[in-house]
Amino acid sequence: MDTPRPLARGPARFPSGPSAMSPATRSKKQPAPIFVPYDPNTAGVPVVIAPSLLSSDFAWAARELARCRRAGARWLHVDIMDGHFVPNITFGPPVLKKWVAAEPDLFYDTHLMIEHPMQYAERFVEAGSGLITIHVETVGRPRRELRALRRLGVKAGVVIKPRTPVREIQSLLDEVDLVLVMTVEPGFGGQALIPSTLNKVRELDLIRRRESLPFRLQVDGGINAETAEMAVAAGADVLVAGNAVFANGDIAGNLRALRQALARIKPT
Ligand code: DX5
Ligand code: ZN
Repeated sequence: MDTPRPLARGPARFPSGPSAMSPATRSKKQPAPIFVPYDPNTAGVPVVIAPSLLSSDFAWAARELARCRRAGARWLHVDIMDGHFVPNITFGPPVLKKWVAAEPDLFYDTHLMIEHPMQYAERFVEAGSGLITIHVETVGRPRRELRALRRLGVKAGVVIKPRTPVREIQSLLDEVDLVLVMTVEPGFGGQALIPSTLNKVRELDLIRRRESLPFRLQVDGGINAETAEMAVAAGADVLVAGNAVFANGDIAGNLRALRQALARIKPT
């Protein structure tokens, strides 16, 4: 689901009219853009909640995807792990391809936590990714790789781990559609957000305003109703949430609680 985040830290707003409709209920003639760049010159930017499928029930993947869509989610976060860059293994392009076939109108945000990500990027594009994020820690020439990603026809994002400083990606910020600040050590769902990582979100938000850069600012790890407010107040506008969406199986109720938490944010 999307909601405008006012530039001056105003309360997050959630559309209730036609703009809140799922892609399926929209007029085919006027599809809403699913990836909206950050615009420092307008009054707000949509805040997206991207359910992380890592916490979903893989035995019932298509059902989980449909539940997310019916609950208003438009992005899905797909965590790819190789057992090398992170101490965990998930799945590869053929699995993603099946999910995209089951729910083709969702936007698949693919987070590559793998060594040599560019060896696999094209296969994830062919599988249906709309956005691919690569860890700056995994690539030798990130600017070149980000350009190559964009040439593949997807949005390109760069990710930093909790201990990687903003200066490691500063020179790339005009080359990316999104920056993902990891708010936990990558590898597992269900961890607690590391509060100091939000300083990097603040820093990046200041930079994009100062330099009029259109990249979206995403956080991933430990996002729940309480930390979602903190992250958006720091400047984040894409929130990945795994456990907070899929715990107890009540996807719609959990997404509603996250949206309500964001609606409580007061202007500062
Ligand atoms: C962790 C993954 C996350 C994870 C988040 O390495 O990148 O996307 O699924 O899960 P929660 O929201 O439960 O912390
Ligand atoms: Zn992730």
